[in-house]
Amino acid sequence: MKLAAKKALITGGNSGIGLATARLFITEGAEVAITGRDQKTLDEAVAELGPKAHGYRADVTVAEDRKRLFADLAKDFGKLDIVFANAGIGGRTPTGATDEATFENIVHTNLNGAFFTVNSAAPLLNDNGSIIFNGSVHNYLGQAGVAAYAATKGGVVSMARAIAADLAPRNIRVNVVAPGATKTPIWKRGARANASAEESAKLADFFSSVVPLGRWGEPEELAKAVLFLASDDSSYINAIELVVDGGATGAPFGAPIFRG
Ligand SMILES: NC(=O)c1ccc[n+]([C@@H]2O[C@H](COP(=O)([O-])OP(=O)(O)OC[C@H]3O[C@@H](n4cnc5c(N)ncnc54)[C@H](OP(=O)(O)O)[C@@H]3O)[C@@H](O)[C@H]2O)c1
Repeated sequence: MKLAAKKALITGGNSGIGLATARLFITEGAEVAITGRDQKTLDEAVAELGPKAHGYRADVTVAEDRKRLFADLAKDFGKLDIVFANAGIGGRTPTGATDEATFENIVHTNLNGAFFTVNSAAPLLNDNGSIIFNGSVHNYLGQAGVAAYAATKGGVVSMARAIAADLAPRNIRVNVVAPGATKTPIWKRGARANASAEESAKLADFFSSVVPLGRWGEPEELAKAVLFLASDDSSYINAIELVVDGGATGAPFGAPIFRG
C-alpha cells in the first residue's frame, strides 16, 4: 500500500475529484479527513468511505470554520502527512458584464481558500509531507467568460512554487494537479443547474471533441495522479504542475475536432 499509516486532509472531499481521491487514499492505507459545506453529502461520503474517513463541515472561505477545522484535526489526527487543497468552484465572469461580488467569490474560494487551508495546515504537517493543489487547464486555455476562474488556477501554480520554497527546509513537497474536463458534479452547479438534457449533451460532445483522447476524464483518473503526487512514487518531484487532460493542452491539434 502506497499510503500506509499516512494521514490526509482533502478539502471538498464530499464530491467529484476529492471524493474519488479519498476512496483511493483509503484503499492505499491512509486515514482521511474530508471537508465540504454540504453536511448531507459529507455524511453520505463518510458512510460510503467507512471508518478510515472523518467528515468536517467547513467552508474554506470562512476563517472561523478553518480555525475550528484545524483545532479538530489537531485533536483527532494529531499530525497530517498529506493535504489536497481541492475545494473549488467554477463560474462565469465575462469581461464587461461581471460584478465584483461574483469575481471575488471565485477568487476567495479557489485562491484564498486554498492558500489559507495550506497556511493553517502547515504547522500540523509532518516533515517529508506532501501538499497538492487542484489547478486546471484554464491556466492555459484562454477560454472566453472565465477570467476569474482562469486567474485562480494560474495563481495556484505560482503560489505552489512559492510555498514549495517556504516548506523546502522541512522536505515538504508542493505540487499542482491540473485537470482537464472531468466528469464531476461541478458541471451541474450554478448556472448549469438548469441546463436541459440537450444543452448538457452538447457540452459533453464539445469537450470530447477538443481532447486528443476523445473523451472526458474520470475523477478516478485524477485521483491516481493525486496519489502519485502524494506518495513516495513522486519523492523527487517538487513544485510542478501535472496536467491530466487527455492531451488537450499539449497536443490540441490531435483532437477529433481538428482531424481531417
Ligand atoms: N471537473 C472538472 O472538469 C475540473 C477541471 C479542472 C479543475 N477542476 C477542479 O477540481 C476541483 C474539484 O472539483 P470537482 O470537479 O470535483 O467538482 P465538485 O464535484 O463540484 O467538487 C467541488 C468540491 O469543492 C467543495 N467546495 C466548493 N466550495 C467550497 C467552499 N467554499 N468550502 C469548502 N468546500 C467547498 C464542494 O463541497 P460542497 O459541495 O459541500 O460545497 C465539493 O466537495 C476544483 O478545484 C475544480 O476547480 C475540476
